[in-house]
Amino acid sequence: MQQPAFDESSYKLFDVSWDAPMDTISGLTEWSRDINSVYAITTVITIFVFFAVAIPLIWTLVKFKSKGDEQTPPKQFHGNTTLEILWTVIPVVLLLFIAVPTWRILFKHAHTPEGAMQVDVIGHQWWWEFRYPQNGNIITANELHLPENTPVVFRVWSADVIHGFWVPKFGGKMDANPTAMEEDGITPKRWSVLNIVTPSVADANKKGGEMYQGQCTQLCGPSHALMRFNTVVHSKDEFESWAKTANTPPAVETTLAKAGEQVFARCQACHAITGTPSEQIPGPKIGPNLTNFGNRKYLGAGTRLNTMENLAAWLRDPASIKQGSLMPNLGLTEEEIQQVSSYVRLSTTKTY
Ligand code: CUA
Repeated sequence: MQQPAFDESSYKLFDVSWDAPMDTISGLTEWSRDINSVYAITTVITIFVFFAVAIPLIWTLVKFKSKGDEQTPPKQFHGNTTLEILWTVIPVVLLLFIAVPTWRILFKHAHTPEGAMQVDVIGHQWWWEFRYPQNGNIITANELHLPENTPVVFRVWSADVIHGFWVPKFGGKMDANPTAMEEDGITPKRWSVLNIVTPSVADANKKGGEMYQGQCTQLCGPSHALMRFNTVVHSKDEFESWAKTANTPPAVETTLAKAGEQVFARCQACHAITGTPSEQIPGPKIGPNLTNFGNRKYLGAGTRLNTMENLAAWLRDPASIKQGSLMPNLGLTEEEIQQVSSYVRLSTTKTY
């Protein structure tokens, strides 16, 4: 099969004005502050080691430099028990200073607090699925919505290869490993756990919450770099109303959208929209759930802004935007593209 021409602009960082790109220094959670505290200890120790080695080294080089007039080689010796004990014990002690705080924070965050909200995170080539089993079984993709100041337990696994789930501003990072599934095909046999208490929203009156960029951190195929997502932290009330509307079926109002609903029949083997016949098709879907697609800021897993224009470009040829995309070019006509875009995007835009 011939690879379509790849549009390089997809690799340019998308609009990151809302999150100075993936900065870990100004972490927002206890996890990230704890990680940075261990980094601080490590930095101080490495600076100490640097000077403890460099200063005697430079002193020795200068003091014992050959003057060119020696008649005999310098006195030879080997073995010095005191020195050997010293340069074994000092590194061990320094490493303990790093290891003990590291273990302490690892054990501290391994514990899932009572009443934590559960979110299932599933890595796919090359997009993220998020499920909310305690909030009316919402299933969404590439946009992770969370309430502020809330302990969340992420159960992380993968539908294919190893991916890495990471929101840099939140600290902790977790690999998504492939797992065997239970007989229903959607419940994993194994998963990894990441506990994070979400940060607070700085401005409680701001609509739409605060956004933070996320990124897959394991090389998982040609579009690994384009496997992004954004995390939206809402005030608790706003999260509640997001959760209430997230599962509502599309509101098909225009003739264009009605025609698009027919075209969508060709998409529903891979994509589900709640409250439509696509849900009745058994088995897990291989493409993102599109129930609240209209509200997402990006399409193609953080690749392009979610606009009618970009959606049309995606539908014309997904692989030109995301190399290796598992979504094929469906050969839709321009008219069908307008119709299905209207259905998938405008009918699923909800006010919350
Ligand atoms: Cu998924 Cu890299």
